[in-house]
Amino acid sequence: MRLALTLVALGVSAQTRETNPYTLADQDALAKGRRLYSFYCVFCHGMDGASGRGSQLASSYRKHGSSDREVYRTIADGVPGTEMTGHPLEEDEVWKILLFVRQIEQNASGRGQGCRAGAGDPVKGAAVFQSVCQNCHSAASRLGPDLAAIGATRSREHLRESIVEPDKVISRAFRAVRVRTAQGEAVQGLLLNQDEYTIHLLDVREQVRSFQRSGLAAVVFPKESLMPSFAKSLSAGQIDDVLAHLCGGKR
Ligand code: HEC
Ligand code: HEC
Repeated sequence: MRLALTLVALGVSAQTRETNPYTLADQDALAKGRRLYSFYCVFCHGMDGASGRGSQLASSYRKHGSSDREVYRTIADGVPGTEMTGHPLEEDEVWKILLFVRQIEQNASGRGQGCRAGAGDPVKGAAVFQSVCQNCHSAASRLGPDLAAIGATRSREHLRESIVEPDKVISRAFRAVRVRTAQGEAVQGLLLNQDEYTIHLLDVREQVRSFQRSGLAAVVFPKESLMPSFAKSLSAGQIDDVLAHLCGGKR
């Protein structure tokens, strides 16, 4: 524990592997994971992964990625800007907790709470979606997450919040960046990757743009999502229609 804390303090990751060394057949590891979960996680996620104020773990949908590596990082590092803080645990403990989370997912398959039907006309909603959302949210677009299955796992309230207050919770896979070149060109888009010398982004026309840092006058990582708020540009009725469409499943 002391070692893990020191590593976290130094900003060094203790994760040494990409996949979970344990499987659901490892009863001891699972029991240990369950105990750790009931200590560190139950308060926000509930023992069944469906109650509490954290996000639904009783579902196969993971906003922050569902591979072992990604869920490990979510548990160890947390989700910046949310109540989900990091957990300075030993690597072995994180893998055991993750094993228990996998069991919650498995038990829940097919009965995620998801979105309940409510006000709104899904047919009108589909038309609105096509005209103002599709560009970023089709399966083909890399600008935003594919929303085809979102209704199965997200509550209506969560979806509404994503539409009217997109800056409140931003998926870390979609980090916005703005650069200005020495010639004065301003480009904004999604950060693809960066190192000491270069920065690569996907601009809003989905072109990959690469820049030498030395040739840039400014680089800004805005706190806002690339997704604009639709609180003003759509009426309350239209937002209900879009919600009915997203909750409806097939798109
Ligand atoms: C103080 C409350 C709190 C505690 C304690 C907490 N979480 Fe969370 N957790 C959250 C919230 C809130 C989110 C949603 C973050 C967001 O908005 O994306 C979340 C998100 C997650 C996610 C990502 C879900 C997704 O869709 O990608 C996982 C996995 C997770 N938590 C697992 C755990 C585990 C395992 C523990 C215990 C080690 C834990 N959490 C402890 C509040 C908490
Ligand atoms: C300019 C591109 C863009 C447009 C247009 C756009 N979005 Fe988004 N949307 C994003 C990005 C990027 C994210 C992920 C970052 C974040 O979480 O804010 C996102 C996230 C979301 C989420 C959250 C998904 C989750 O995993 O919880 C929902 C729901 C959503 N958008 C719905 C909509 C709807 C409905 C519209 C149209 C009314 C729309 N978006 C228009 C880019 C866009």
